[in-house]
Amino acid sequence: MAKMEVKTSLLDNMIGVGDMVLLEPLDEDSFINNLKKRYDHNEVYTYIGSVVISINPYRSLPIYTPEKVEEYRNRNFYELSPHIFALSDEAYRSLRDQDKDQCILITGESGAGKTEASKLVMSYVAAVCGKGAEVNQVKEQLLQSNPVLEAFGNAKTVRNDNSSRFGKYMDIEFDFKGDPLGGVISNYLLEKSRVVKQPRGERNFHIFYQILSGASEDFLCKLKLERDFSRYNYLGLDSAKVNGVDDAANFRTVRNAMQIVGFMDHETQSVFEVVAAVLKLGNIEFKPESRVNGLDESKIKDKNELKEICELTGIDQSVLERAFSFRTVEAKQEKVSTTLNVAQAYYARDALAKNLYSRLFSWLVTRINESIKAQTKVRKKVMGVLDIYGFEIFEDNSFEQFIINYCNEKLQQIFIELTLKEEQEEYIREGIEWTHIEYFNNAIICDLIENNQTGILAMLDEECLRPGTVTDDTFLEKLNQVCATHQHFESRMSKCSRFLNDTTLPHSCFRIQHYAGKVMYQVEGFVDKNNDLLYRDLSQAMWKASHSLIKALFPEGNPAKINLKRPPTAGSQFKASVATLMKNLQTKNPNYIRCIKPNDKKAAHIFNDALVCHQIRYLGLLENVRVRRAGYAFRQMYEPCLERYKMLCKQTWPHWRGPARAGVEVLFNELEIPEEEFSFGRSKIFIRNPRTLFKLEDLRKQRLEDLATLIEKIYRGWKCRTRFLLMKKSQIVIASWYRRYAQQKKYQKIKSSAIIVQSYIRGWKARKLLRELKHQKRCNEAATIIAAYWHGTQARRELKRLKEEARRKHAVAVIWAYWLGLKVRREYRKFFRANAGRKIYEFTLQRLMQKYFLEMKNKMPSLSPIDKNWPARPYLFLDSTHKELKRIFHLWRCKKYRDQFTDQQKLIYEEKLEASELFKDKKALYPASVGQPFQGAYLEISKNPKYKKLKDAVDEKIIIAEVVNKINRANGKATSRIFLLTKNNVLLADQKSGNIKSEVPLGDVAKVSMSSQNDGFFAVHLKEGSGAAGKGDFLLSSDHLIEMATKLYRTTLSQTKQKLNIEISDEFLVQFRQDKVCVKFIQGSQKNGNIPTCKRKNNRLLEVAVP
Ligand SMILES: Nc1ncnc2c1ncn2[C@@H]1O[C@H](COP(=O)(O)OP(=O)(O)OP(=O)(O)O)[C@@H](O)[C@H]1O
Ligand SMILES: [Mg+2]
Repeated sequence: MAKMEVKTSLLDNMIGVGDMVLLEPLDEDSFINNLKKRYDHNEVYTYIGSVVISINPYRSLPIYTPEKVEEYRNRNFYELSPHIFALSDEAYRSLRDQDKDQCILITGESGAGKTEASKLVMSYVAAVCGKGAEVNQVKEQLLQSNPVLEAFGNAKTVRNDNSSRFGKYMDIEFDFKGDPLGGVISNYLLEKSRVVKQPRGERNFHIFYQILSGASEDFLCKLKLERDFSRYNYLGLDSAKVNGVDDAANFRTVRNAMQIVGFMDHETQSVFEVVAAVLKLGNIEFKPESRVNGLDESKIKDKNELKEICELTGIDQSVLERAFSFRTVEAKQEKVSTTLNVAQAYYARDALAKNLYSRLFSWLVTRINESIKAQTKVRKKVMGVLDIYGFEIFEDNSFEQFIINYCNEKLQQIFIELTLKEEQEEYIREGIEWTHIEYFNNAIICDLIENNQTGILAMLDEECLRPGTVTDDTFLEKLNQVCATHQHFESRMSKCSRFLNDTTLPHSCFRIQHYAGKVMYQVEGFVDKNNDLLYRDLSQAMWKASHSLIKALFPEGNPAKINLKRPPTAGSQFKASVATLMKNLQTKNPNYIRCIKPNDKKAAHIFNDALVCHQIRYLGLLENVRVRRAGYAFRQMYEPCLERYKMLCKQTWPHWRGPARAGVEVLFNELEIPEEEFSFGRSKIFIRNPRTLFKLEDLRKQRLEDLATLIEKIYRGWKCRTRFLLMKKSQIVIASWYRRYAQQKKYQKIKSSAIIVQSYIRGWKARKLLRELKHQKRCNEAATIIAAYWHGTQARRELKRLKEEARRKHAVAVIWAYWLGLKVRREYRKFFRANAGRKIYEFTLQRLMQKYFLEMKNKMPSLSPIDKNWPARPYLFLDSTHKELKRIFHLWRCKKYRDQFTDQQKLIYEEKLEASELFKDKKALYPASVGQPFQGAYLEISKNPKYKKLKDAVDEKIIIAEVVNKINRANGKATSRIFLLTKNNVLLADQKSGNIKSEVPLGDVAKVSMSSQNDGFFAVHLKEGSGAAGKGDFLLSSDHLIEMATKLYRTTLSQTKQKLNIEISDEFLVQFRQDKVCVKFIQGSQKNGNIPTCKRKNNRLLEVAVP
C-alpha cells in the first residue's frame, strides 16, 4: 500500500523553502536557486507570504485532479504545499465566510501561464462552490466564455502559441451562500494591429484559421470564403499551422461554447460574417490613377472581392467604393472632399479592418456579459480575476508596449500599496508596533506617464489635438522638453545632457526606467495609434450596411448623430479604463499570482536562470519578499504554533492546559529564544528572522526523532511484553492440558487395573458362593430323594393297603349282585321271555328314526334347483328313505322355483326348454344361445316408418322380425333380407324398401336343415308341389338361428299340429328351382375372424367353411 503522506504544515517535507519569506540568506541567487530546486522537483508553486509564484511547467502535471481539489478544499493556506488551489480556496472562503470581495491579480510575461492560471482559479472555484441545476448552468456559462474570447482575442506569437492579445478582467458574482450568480467581463486594448499585419513567425487571431479549417464547405460558401489560407493577404503564411493545435476541432469547441453561453444562431452567423468580411477586406487592392487635375487617386484593382464583401454585409457597393477613394472633412459646416492616393486607400482599408474586428471583439464581450450577468438584484459578493498582459520588453517597443507596461506599473503600485497596507493593518490588528519599511515606490513612474499636465500620455494627446503638422518626431521633441528632468525618463535629445553620448539609445526613441527594468520605445506610430483614426466616410458606409451587427458596430456613422468632436484617443481611453480598474481593485482584497516563464523554448524541464532572473527583477519579487519581511518574516496563529512545537518543552508536552498564547510564551522562554527575535501579537506569534523558525524546525525534527525513538521503544516494550504475556498464558494452558491428559491416562490405567482386580475377586467370591450353593443343592436333593423314597415306600404301603381293601369291597359287591341277580332271575324268569325282546327292538328303532330326522332338518341343502348337494346317508337301513327324501325335496324346491315365474317368463322358459330338447348336444351353436334371451322382434317394424308398407301388408302378429342373409344360390354371396314369422306364414322382404319378396305359409314348410357346427346357416325346404315351391328352397343365415328354428318349430306345431322336421347334418341337399345343390359344411380357417364363408364350388356343391 502506498504510504500516505499526512501534511499538517507547509513546513513538512519542504523542497527548498515553500515560502520565500523564509529564504536565508535573501538574495537574488538564493531566490533563483530555490525556485530552480523546486521546479526540478515539479514544485511549480512557491509562496511569498500570501503571494503565489507560478512557474510554467509547459507540460501537464497531475496536480489539478478532482482529488487535489478535495485535498485543498477547506484547508488553511499554510497547511499544504504551495498551490494555486490554496490561494483560490483562501480567496473563496474569505469571500464566502467573511464577506470580503476578492480580486485575483495574475501577472507575468507573455507565455508565463496567466491565462491558464486564471482558468485554474475559475475551475477550482466552480468545483468547490454550490451545486444545482441553475448554479451549474451559470458556472458552465462562465467557464465557456473563455474559449470564445480566446478564439477571438488570442493568437500564436513567438512567445506563446495561445497568447492573449487583450487584457481581461472578470468579476464573478456570488450570493451570500457562495453560489455563483453570474459575472461581468471587462476587456482592455485588443492588439488590433495584428488583424492586418503579424510579425514573423506569428499568426493572426485564432478565429480566422479556425473558420477556414473547421467550417463545413456549405458554411464557407455562405461566408464566401475559401479554405486555402494562402488566398488571404491578412493571414501570415509562414506559421499558419501551429504544432499540437487542431484549429478545426477548436472551431467546433468555440461554436459549442457560443451556444452554451447563449448566442442565438443568427448572432453566431452574423459574427462569422463580420470575421469573413474582415478577412476579405485584406484582399482588396488598389492601383494608382491620375486625374486630369493632377491629384493622386487610387482605384480598386479587382472589384469582385469588394462585391462579395458588400453582399455579405449588405452595403451598397458604390458607397463602399467611394469611401475607399475619398475622404470628406467637415469644418465649419463646410464639407471638403479629397481623393485618397494608393497609400491612403490602403491605410483606410486596414483601419476599417482593424476597427471592424476590435469593435466586433468588444461587442462579443458585451454580448457575453449580457448572457452571464446575474439575474438578481440582491447584494452580491464579487471575486475579480485579472488576466492582463504582463510587462513586455521587446527589441522594438511601440505604443502597445508602452500602454501595457503602464498598466503593469499601475498594478505594481496597487500591489505595493495593498501589501503594505495589509501588513500595516495586520500589525495594528495584532497590536504590534509598526516600524517604517524602506521600499521602492513606483508612484513616480506612474506619474511620469499619467500626470495630467506633464505626463507622457497627456503630451501625446496634446500633440494629437494640436493643429498644424503633427508627427511622431514633434511628439518626441515635446517629451524631450517636458520630461527631460524626470529621473526615470531617458532620451538622447533631451535637454538633459546625461544621454547625449549613449549610443544604445537611438534618436527616434525614448527610454523609461520602469520598476521592472529599462524599456526603450520607438516613437514611430505613437501619434497614429493614439489617434486611432477611421475616416468618417468609412464609418458612415458601415452604418449604411443592412447587416444589423455591422450597423450597430458603427453608431457614429449615423449622419443624424454627427459629432464633430474628436473621439477620445486610445491612450486617454486606456488611462481611464486603467483608473477604473485600479479603483475597483482597491476596494477588494487582493490575491496575487506571479507567473514566471522558465524558458523561451516553450519546453518542459528547462530552467533558464538568466530569463527567470530578469522576470524576478521586473516583477519585483525580491522587493516583494523584502516588503513582506520588513517587520517579521514569519507569523503564525498561536494554536497551530503550539501544536507544532509543543514537544520542545516539558511543560507543553504532551498537553498544554492553559491558553495557547501562554503555552507559546512558556515554550519560547524555555527554548531561550532572544526576545528581539519575536513578538506576541493578539492572535499570532511574529518571528523576525527565518533563522529562528528554522532553528525551531531543526529542534522539532530532532525532538521528533527522539520521540519516534521513544515511541518505538515503548511500542517494542509493549510488543515484547504482550508477546511474553501471551506466551505465558499459552504455557499455562498447554501445561494444564498436558496435566489433564497425564492424569487422565493414569486414572484410566488405575481404573482398568482396579476393574481387573475387582473382577478376579468377584470371580473368586462367586465361585465360592457357587460351590456352597451347589453343595447345598446336592444336600437338598439328597434329602428330597431320601424323603421321596421314604414317602414312596409309605404310599406304596398305603396303596397296597387300600387296593386290598377295595378288592375286598368289590368282591363283596359282585357277590352281592350275583346273588341279587340270581334272586331276581329266579323270581321273574317267567314274564320276561314272552315280550321284552320285541319291545326293546321297536324302541331302539324309533329312537334312531327320530335322531335321523332331527339331524336331516339341520343339514338341508339350499333351495336352488341346480344345487346337487345332499347329506350323506347315516344308516344303511334308511337307504331307500334317504333317496326318496332327496327326490321329494328336489321336486318341492323345483315347484317352489317355478311358482315364482310369470306367464311370460314361463313361455320364454318353455321356448328355451323346447330349444334344449331340439338342439342340446346336437348343434355346436346351442350352448352360446342359452344365455341369450329370445326377443323375437329384433326389427321394430311398427315403429320404423320405412317399413310402414310392410307392416300394413302383414296384419298378423309378428313372432320374429329380423334381418337375415339370404345366400345367393349362384355364387354363395349373401343378401340382407327381412325375415318375418307370423302365426301362419314365413315372409322374406327387401331390407331397404320393405317390399315382400316371398311369402310361404307354414303348412308349406317341409323341413329345416342346418349343420351341427357353430354357424347360423339353415335351409328352409318347401313341400314339393306347394304354391311357394316354385322358387325353390331358401338358404339363409342368421345370428339367432336357435331362436328362429325353435319359434318356427313351435309355431308350426301349434298351427298345423305337426312337428316340423329339423334335420341336423353337415351335408344336406337344397332344391334350387330344378337343381338340387349339396350344401357342405367344412372346418375352415380363421382368416375372416369367426364368420363362416360360403362359396359355390360347382353346380352341385356349395361349401360353407366354418371356423
Ligand atoms: N499550469 C500549467 N500547466 C501546464 N501547462 C501550462 C500551465 N500554465 C501554462 N502552461 C502552458 O503554457 C502556455 C502559455 O500559457 P498562457 O497562455 O497561460 O500564458 P499567458 O501568461 O496567458 O501568456 P500571454 O500573456 O501571452 O497571454 C499554455 O498554452 C500551456 O501550454
Ligand atoms: Mg494569456
